[in-house]
Amino acid sequence: MGNCSTASSVELPSPESQQSQTGNENENENEINMYLKCAKQEFDAKYAQPSKQMVKLEDFELERTIGMGMFSRVMLAKYENKLLALKIIEKHAIVEYAQVECILSEKRILQAINFPFIVSLVYSFKDNSHLYLALEFASGGEMFVHFNHVKKFSEDQVRFYVAQIVLILEYLHYLSIIYRNLKVEEILFAADGYLKLTDFRLAKVAHDRTFTLCGTPEYLAPEIITGIGYNKSVDYWALGILIYELAAGFSPFQDEDPMKVYTNILRGTFNTPQHFSSDLTDLIHKLLQSRPANRYGNLQNGVNDIKNHKWFSSMDWVSLFKKRIKAPYIPEADKEHYETYDEKQLTHAETELYPTEFENF
Ligand SMILES: Nc1ncnc2c1ncn2[C@@H]1O[C@H](COP(=O)(O)OP(=O)(O)OP(=O)(O)O)[C@@H](O)[C@H]1O
Ligand SMILES: [Mg+2]
Repeated sequence: MGNCSTASSVELPSPESQQSQTGNENENENEINMYLKCAKQEFDAKYAQPSKQMVKLEDFELERTIGMGMFSRVMLAKYENKLLALKIIEKHAIVEYAQVECILSEKRILQAINFPFIVSLVYSFKDNSHLYLALEFASGGEMFVHFNHVKKFSEDQVRFYVAQIVLILEYLHYLSIIYRNLKVEEILFAADGYLKLTDFRLAKVAHDRTFTLCGTPEYLAPEIITGIGYNKSVDYWALGILIYELAAGFSPFQDEDPMKVYTNILRGTFNTPQHFSSDLTDLIHKLLQSRPANRYGNLQNGVNDIKNHKWFSSMDWVSLFKKRIKAPYIPEADKEHYETYDEKQLTHAETELYPTEFENF
């Protein structure tokens, strides 16, 4: 394997060749390392020099709102006959809630990453009052909605979904990105039933420890709550919570009172439902380690401790990456998978708001 022009040009080994070769595990690992190296080259170049795009709101045909967030409205929109999810962010709200750095980082990271299980950013632009992120549309809907409907997943289903999240974290962490927002609400389905992770507002390029208190209470690692500083291993803690929740139908430290949630997390003890297999319980315990120094994903072998854990022994990681495994749930085609929301006319200021704050958007 020589130099890389793009990460996607790196040929990962086919599952067939994997089975017939001896020493294939090492070979796979080499290929994956090469893929990640190329991905990092690509990311570093784009992150250092973000692209500028010359599109504007009038180029889009706005259809309807499909999601609402704290600072944004996401609308289904057509651009040259292609459906996209247009995240419309109010500049004023971002400034008011001191989120400028987060939004700049969200855009800068999104425009530089490229991974099959993460929504890709197609365009970004701004006008007087708003910032816009035109994202690949995940047409299969929110996992949150589907999950609430089915209540919990079988372990095989959880494995299929969580394995994709493991690959996402492997990719992001290799690029020195902490995601910090892992939760069911940010996981969407593509039409083929594979995942598309969205919402990079809390994502951050961090080479050292970082201190900001952010995330969703149920998923916060103890070291985020205590404020002693943390690293990428907080994503592996959140992964432990996510696995538990998807397999149990509820979260390990949940409580109606958010303060009690924090107490539960800091106490660090939890029970697992009886139907959990012993391998699943073991993996969750290895992820939900209160001390980051003991947490899977953050040990000497990094993410490979998770990928090689017994609970994942049936997982063919390369086939998964290549989407050669049949998804357990394929969202019904031609069905509206997103809720309806009240529509609101966008208002536009006469002059450009906060030009210096958003200069780099
Ligand atoms: N690429 C996408 N395809 C389809 N729907 C999406 C897409 N991105 C976001 N959505 C929908 O919009 C909702 C809100 O988007 P997102 O989570 O990115 O923003 P948010 O929660 O408002 O973030 P913030 O807190 O930064 O304002 C999602 O939960 C989802 O329902
Ligand atoms: Mg969100």
